[in-house]
Amino acid sequence: MINFTFQNPTKIIFGKGTEKQVGKEVSQYANKVLLHYGGGSIKKTGLYDRVVTSLKEAGIEIVELSGVKPNPRLSLVYEGIRICRENNIGFILAVGGGSVIDSAKAIAMGVVYDGDVWDFFTEKAVPQKALPIGTILTIPAAGSEASTGCVITKEEGGYKRAVNSELIYPRFSILNPEMAFTLPKYQVACGAADILAHLMERYFTNVPNVELTDRLIEATMKTIINNIPIVLEQPDNYDAWAEIMWAGTVAHNNLLNTGRIGDWASHDIEHELSGIYDIAHGAGLAIIFPAWMKYVYKHDINRFAQYASRVWNVDLSLWSLERAALKGIEALENFFRSIGLVTRLKDAGIEDDRFEEMAQKCTGSDQYTVGNFVKLKSADIVNIYNLAK
Ligand code: NZQ
Ligand code: ZN
Repeated sequence: MINFTFQNPTKIIFGKGTEKQVGKEVSQYANKVLLHYGGGSIKKTGLYDRVVTSLKEAGIEIVELSGVKPNPRLSLVYEGIRICRENNIGFILAVGGGSVIDSAKAIAMGVVYDGDVWDFFTEKAVPQKALPIGTILTIPAAGSEASTGCVITKEEGGYKRAVNSELIYPRFSILNPEMAFTLPKYQVACGAADILAHLMERYFTNVPNVELTDRLIEATMKTIINNIPIVLEQPDNYDAWAEIMWAGTVAHNNLLNTGRIGDWASHDIEHELSGIYDIAHGAGLAIIFPAWMKYVYKHDINRFAQYASRVWNVDLSLWSLERAALKGIEALENFFRSIGLVTRLKDAGIEDDRFEEMAQKCTGSDQYTVGNFVKLKSADIVNIYNLAK
């Protein structure tokens, strides 16, 4: 295990009816809030009305900005920055999924920065401060509700880029599993793929002697694998959703990478797909992650065999380590297919004509490598896209 500092400041308020506490929470920070949300699911479900009521009861003035799209766009972030400045807003409340939360985080960094907020995504500048934000989560998936991450797409050029900063940890996140009852099956599956990917990115490490976090990650993966089929059959199964929602947060709140170094190549490789083809992040990961695994498993067959055995119950007494490792990857692909995701690019309507371009973008034309478990150059990334096609 390597040295680490762990501090996650996000207050989690979990359970039935907890969204009613939002007014009280926000009032600790400001009396004027930007209420930020997506394409309208929160109006259909009635959550919007409950949030507005709670904020008004707490005497909070509301300014709204809706219209966040999946793969949130930079243009809306600029609009949010302008609105916050013009209205002297002191707090941003994101009600939705990872896209809404990331859009809120980008606005929060941009409002208090004199330059272009995109500078943070190109590493031209590092954020020094941010407005406080809070969230009400409606889909377990991205883990943004308790993460340092923020991922935004610049429409021009199709660049999807991430920033990590402790300044954008939400001050609080309200997690009511009932909010997930209305999710379309496809979004449930995409969320599951993203949560599993956050766990696997951390699992495939070169750091030895990390038994505690290995086993915590395995347990969190098994929780997702066991409960996603239940909610696909029974969308209003509170208990199963509660397991999934908490697992989604734990998967990405940095507890599970304490003392180890994660990989993250699959995320970078997937972001190129979402940037150009506007595919859902989880759907892209269901295609890229198994391909990445097939490309790198020989780097540490023991770790892949351990994953196969402990997560997918592959019997190590029956197979060679290499066969067991491959069976683990196959089990992951089968799981993705069983929940309605495709695992090949062509099945997502993506041809092979832009692999080189995406690989060049991903590595800054080979100025840097991608991933930590195995450091990948653009040629490796093209090979991974080819394995995924
Ligand atoms: O926009 P609305 O109408 O709300 O509809 C959304 C959206 O269409 C819908 N939805 C959400 N909750 C719902 C619902 N529909 C019915 N009932 C509900 N309860 O679901 C669709 C997808 O929402 P989105 O926010 O895009 O999903 P997700 O949470 O998967 O977020 C994906 C984004 O997060 C980024 C991804 O790259 C992607 O842009 N990520 C952010 C991370 C972070 N900040 O730490 C880490 C992740 O690795 C990821 O990259
Ligand atoms: Zn992700």
